[in-house]
Amino acid sequence: MRHRPECGVLSIAGRWHVAVVLVLVLVLLLMSGSGSAVLAQTAATTMTATTVATASVQGQALASKSGCLSCHGLVHTQVGPGFAQVAARYRDDAGAPEHLAAKIRSGGVGIWGRLIMPRQPQVSEADAALLAKWVLSQPSPP
Ligand code: HEC
Repeated sequence: MRHRPECGVLSIAGRWHVAVVLVLVLVLLLMSGSGSAVLAQTAATTMTATTVATASVQGQALASKSGCLSCHGLVHTQVGPGFAQVAARYRDDAGAPEHLAAKIRSGGVGIWGRLIMPRQPQVSEADAALLAKWVLSQPSPP
């Protein structure tokens, strides 16, 4: 048989795989023995992250359905301020959720410039509260 160096490389790579899988299995076995609390915690963390992500997706869907995104960008100013800018402005304002929820329905002018935000009567009070929370949860602009 002729010696083919690439075969050797392949078989080392193959053994590496086996070793990695073995280590993983060992870790899993150890965890299931003594670390079921760790597993439960990991599951809980994953669930919290999923809930937060779901809230953010719902907020965006609601904003889109309510027509907010035709004037507001998520980050930068379009017609109205970017929602990340709104979040940054009210970050230390404990009354912001109620204030903005009311503002979303009544509209306004003069806080961000000379353009008017029209009233949004199609938005229910409950949806306005959700939208205000979602707007305030936007990460700071880069
Ligand atoms: C026709 C364009 C337009 C639409 C539609 C619109 N906005 Fe606005 N929005 C504006 C403008 C312009 C401002 C700035 C008003 C100001 O300077 O006081 C603003 C301001 C805001 C503010 C900041 C208010 C403040 O007091 O700082 C929030 C929060 C907001 N909009 C949320 C929303 C949400 C949520 C929706 C959808 C239900 C929406 N907007 C729909 C144009 C719009």
